[in-house]
Amino acid sequence: MYMSIWCHNLNLSSRSLAIALVACVTLVYFSYSFNACLFASLSRTLQQSNLRNLLTLPQRNDTSSSSSSSSNNADASTTATPSTTNATTTPPTHPAAQPLPSIDGAPKYQMLRQQGLRPSRHLPDTLIIGVKKSGTRALLEFIRLHPDVRAAGSEVHFFDRHYQRGLRWYRHHMPYTIEGQITMEKTPSYFVTKEVPQRVYHMNTATKLLIVVRDPVTRAISDYTQAASKKSDMKRFEQLAFVNGSYAVVDTNWGPVKIGVYARYLERWLHFFPLSQLLFISGERLIMDPAYEIGRVQDFLGLKRVVTEKHFYFNATKGFPCLFKSEARSTPHCLGKTKGRNHPHIDANAIERLREFYRPFNNKFYQLTGINFAWP
Ligand code: A3P
Repeated sequence: MYMSIWCHNLNLSSRSLAIALVACVTLVYFSYSFNACLFASLSRTLQQSNLRNLLTLPQRNDTSSSSSSSSNNADASTTATPSTTNATTTPPTHPAAQPLPSIDGAPKYQMLRQQGLRPSRHLPDTLIIGVKKSGTRALLEFIRLHPDVRAAGSEVHFFDRHYQRGLRWYRHHMPYTIEGQITMEKTPSYFVTKEVPQRVYHMNTATKLLIVVRDPVTRAISDYTQAASKKSDMKRFEQLAFVNGSYAVVDTNWGPVKIGVYARYLERWLHFFPLSQLLFISGERLIMDPAYEIGRVQDFLGLKRVVTEKHFYFNATKGFPCLFKSEARSTPHCLGKTKGRNHPHIDANAIERLREFYRPFNNKFYQLTGINFAWP
């Protein structure tokens, strides 16, 4: 009797065991198939989309194109400087410039890695060094529309304010790039800061330099307008631009006036870099015909002309060219409120006197650059 109960129990438990086994195998099979399908579909989507777009998602240090901040990646093709050059030219003065862990663990980078792409941060190959209030933000926002250009969103001020932090710090402020993308950074004060040309040279002798320039008188007024917007009791432009209240002597120590003597600053840069590594962009033409100037920039950087007139439209309300879409937004938009401000009325005699002051310096600048900007 006991024997028969035991046999019965045995039959029951082996049946249960068999059922459990079949259930387990089925579960494992379905879960494997599901995961395989999911992985295949993810890979397909990734291949179909432009992989580079993954890298155009906002970076940790990026700001929107309309941000009020006034101010990043390199080596595109044959003529752009290979990012690896940066590594080989790290100056001995920066022993701390050891390679950072180049890839972070975020899913988008893991996916790129699965595709054999290794996103990493590089020191910039190209710098927009100035000139302040000449259209530097517009230039950066326009050129970064190119899929092979990646830019630091805000002004890093490494070469003028944070140089002691070393190249490792600087690189950490650059966006992730994949092979063939250019790393770019814009800090307009680089152009006028004495120590900067030599420091950039020590980082990489092949750095490409972009310089937007504008009629120095308009630039000075723009500079003043910006300062006045932050200080309610600011003196009038005419009082600040001249010494002793008459228009006889121009105050060359006043920042907005001083910065406009472009030739003086350019000479310092030409001491370290050949003219062929510098590209001058007309701030006036960047407003009138942005596609033309951006075309020149793409050629200079060895990039395919991807950014064209199709990317721009003229916004009559703003009075400036705006973008149909950008890295940050897929809808039409203009630069922020701090770009394209209304300038105050300035006495015509003061303007004439400033034009007279700048004329010889402008001529020197035309001579150094080989370009006649035809400023009045
Ligand atoms: P204003 O605000 O005085 O008009 P920066 O970016 O170097 O600070 O330069 C600001 C200047 O860029 C602006 O000076 C404006 O004239 C000029 N600019 C050029 N293209 C522009 C654009 N598409 N939108 C707004 N401003 C532009």
